Amino acid sequence: MLSIEHQIRLAQGHVVDALLRRPAIQQAISAWEPFHQRLEQHFPALLTELSALYGERADFLDFVESLLATAFDAWAQRPEELKALDLAREKDPTWFQSQEMLGGVCYVDKFAGSLQGIEAQIPYFQELGLTYLHLMPLFKCPEGNSDGGYAVSSYRDVNPALGTMADLQSLARALRKAGISLVLDFIFNHTSNEHDWARGCLAGDPQYRDFYLLYPDRTLPDQYDRTLREIFPDQHPGGFSPLPDGRWVWTTFNSFQWDLNYANPAVFTAMAGEMLAIANIGTEFLRMDAVAFVWKKLGTSCENLPEAHTVIRAFSALARIASPSLLFKSEAIVHPDDVVKYISSQECQLSYNPLQMALLWNTLATREVNLLQQALENRHALPHDTAWVNYVRSHDDIGWTFSDEDAAQFGINGFHHRQFLNRFYVNRFEGSFARGVPFQDNPVTGDCRICGTCASLTGVEHGDPHGVARMLLLYSVALSSGGIPLLYLGDEVGSVNDYGYLSNADQAMDSRWVHRPAFDSERYALRHNPGTTAGQIYAGLLHMIAVRKAQPAFAGGQLQGFRSGSRSVLGYTRGHSGAEVLVLANFSERVQRVPAAVMSAQPELARDLIGGHPHRLREGLTLAPYQVLWLAYGETA
Ligand code: GLC
Ligand code: GLC
Repeated sequence: MLSIEHQIRLAQGHVVDALLRRPAIQQAISAWEPFHQRLEQHFPALLTELSALYGERADFLDFVESLLATAFDAWAQRPEELKALDLAREKDPTWFQSQEMLGGVCYVDKFAGSLQGIEAQIPYFQELGLTYLHLMPLFKCPEGNSDGGYAVSSYRDVNPALGTMADLQSLARALRKAGISLVLDFIFNHTSNEHDWARGCLAGDPQYRDFYLLYPDRTLPDQYDRTLREIFPDQHPGGFSPLPDGRWVWTTFNSFQWDLNYANPAVFTAMAGEMLAIANIGTEFLRMDAVAFVWKKLGTSCENLPEAHTVIRAFSALARIASPSLLFKSEAIVHPDDVVKYISSQECQLSYNPLQMALLWNTLATREVNLLQQALENRHALPHDTAWVNYVRSHDDIGWTFSDEDAAQFGINGFHHRQFLNRFYVNRFEGSFARGVPFQDNPVTGDCRICGTCASLTGVEHGDPHGVARMLLLYSVALSSGGIPLLYLGDEVGSVNDYGYLSNADQAMDSRWVHRPAFDSERYALRHNPGTTAGQIYAGLLHMIAVRKAQPAFAGGQLQGFRSGSRSVLGYTRGHSGAEVLVLANFSERVQRVPAAVMSAQPELARDLIGGHPHRLREGLTLAPYQVLWLAYGETA
């Protein structure tokens, strides 16, 4: 019997010969050599993943050939400046680990009206220090409700309300010149019901008939629904939506977001073509939307199945061949055991850190660092060539995704604790500083998530005296705990909840709109005025950003827990011995004491990079309410 390696090489020879016989490839033959070199290198990985999904099919190698023809076509069209970037990034694959990285995210229309408006904001992004800009979905989508653009009708057309494809290309180029990587969503689990593929499928076009999951009646949907989690129960019960002709279609999210059928290899090829087209615009990171849901199997939750990982690794291997500088960021807002499974250099090099995000809010509410300290110590480490994207909040709700087993170690009951957190953040808890709103409140399961801007959830909105300090505290952890910190634009000037969505029929059902306010020009105008709330938040954030960028101990993702001896003070060190920073963060409105006993092994003297003051560590430390210290010693001081 032939060894696996030998079979792969045989398949490779066969596919390459067939590709070279294609007239389209012969016509662009000058682009072949660099493509072929990378194909040689990554074909084994690609074939291994693809054969796990589709290897049983008689037409498997034809499929691989047509997929690679699509990839070559994209490569041949890839602009020279991106090919130059590819080479540079291949030489420096962990470039994104730099402490100079800073992410920002915004809606094009809400932040600047249009793509041209975003381009005009580049000087502002530079003022902030951004090196990564995630623009929320901007491709063509249905009028009215499109789930904020997460229902894509065409990846080849920009939403005309925002601009044109030429605007997007120009913006990508301008951002790159300014040292800012463009980040766009790759929404590959579903398309809108108005996508050509969906229309073709509905009409029975043989090319698209198997692109989605349509059922003649409720028989299979009922069987699947027994084990599915409801994602938007306000929208529709279960995972399926009825069609006017009596059929049912798989819709994990809204009824107009049709899940694609990745068991069909033609879907993989079609989406791969869209992915490479998005890369060729000049996109450097893809935010891999809803990764958990892409593979379905009867009798399971249809979340985080092994095949979902295989699909992503296959996309990743293809990117290494045809758009090598493209990297993936996983959006898996699931149990922490499952979140990490998406993160590796072969799959998603980056991932949101939803556990840290949720536990930051948990800690603010409880004033107890227990769960967050535990998460930093036990769930923070990642492979060295990957990184967390650490954030405080996003355009989505905050869900309490911690592990019940972790919580049980502190005698905390996960279910009851989530109920408490929900009450706390929607201001149904006596003494809460938060002004949030519930999302997908599900009386059947008792499940609920939270919405609200950072300023509204921390008390800034109603002038709580500690509001600003709470915001800076949360962002200080995102900025100092490794990986890429991500700022939701608007937070830096303290934008508050916007209830305008309630009078918009397309948004009123979806409370996430409350924390997606438009660019608040008044607040931005005040950002350099230290006498204002906006100015205090802005100055505090910019100072920490500048300190971080200048401090090599903040590069990479390694972190060591440091037990502070206070229930309310989070502790960890960054860097390596001889060049370390000790972070201490007080999550309570009371003065906290870090006793001398826990500091006995620390160097004598340190300097707080935030306040600028020297501290005698061995005497113990006193932290003011919500104070954060970044204590540097040795070479870092
Ligand atoms: C992701 C997005 C969310 C959207 C969903 C469906 O979770 O963040 O906003 O509703 O995917 O695309
Ligand atoms: C679910 C999904 C997550 C998405 C969210 C939107 O929690 O797991 O991907 O962001 O819904 O509300």
